[in-house]
Amino acid sequence: MLVNVADLRKQYTKAGLLEAGLPGEPMPLFRQWFREALESEVTEPNAMALATVKPDGKPSVRIVLMKGIEEDSISFYTNYGSSKASELEKTPHAACTFWWAELERQVRISGPVKKVSEDESTKYFDSRPRESQIGAWASSQSRPVNTRIELEELFSRFERKFDGKKVPRPDHWGGYAIHVNEIEFWQGRPGRMHDRILYRLEKGEWNRQRLAP
Ligand SMILES: Cc1cc2nc3c(=O)[nH]c(=O)nc-3n(C[C@H](O)[C@H](O)[C@H](O)COP(=O)(O)O)c2cc1C
Repeated sequence: MLVNVADLRKQYTKAGLLEAGLPGEPMPLFRQWFREALESEVTEPNAMALATVKPDGKPSVRIVLMKGIEEDSISFYTNYGSSKASELEKTPHAACTFWWAELERQVRISGPVKKVSEDESTKYFDSRPRESQIGAWASSQSRPVNTRIELEELFSRFERKFDGKKVPRPDHWGGYAIHVNEIEFWQGRPGRMHDRILYRLEKGEWNRQRLAP
């Protein structure tokens, strides 16, 4: 090994997250932090680790891209036949985490999950590059594939099928919205004395709590 992993540590230096100036509701702060991540040229600032619960109660996590920030939810798109989709079918609740290293910030969100409307999914599908649209037809996400060649042949088959035509959204592809009912903002601080502010939706009201790092 080239380095001792246990010795890897970074000193955080950015300004803190103090109660003064924090909004009563969290989504304006989430929008602000996301805007600042964009401005700081964080690599793929909309990439988030999405955790779901498998039927046996074990966790399952993978990266997806956030594609919308709505009034009280965030959304992402995927294959409704995928493992994550069947996990969400059984346990319609998710947790996700963003890590914006350049800003020394983490945001954790959790809440119940619902499919977005078909119209909304179609609108987003229609905005995707053509090859991603064809990929959505060619890939039975999370299912076994024998070879790379088999996958590429499927892609070519759908390229031919839709040649000269608009690629329609497949029924098996669409969005999910995570309705935010917990969100924690984490700002790295020196000496591991990080700032953590947790907002929790309780009986329709947002409560705010500082947590020890
Ligand atoms: C940066 C990045 C972005 C990704 N974005 C998505 C996405 O938006 N939707 C998606 O279904 N998979 C996305 N993936 C692939 C997933 O991580 C995962 O491999 C796939 O969704 C299958 O997961 P599942 O078998 O748990 O359902 C992305 C992967 C990476 C590394």
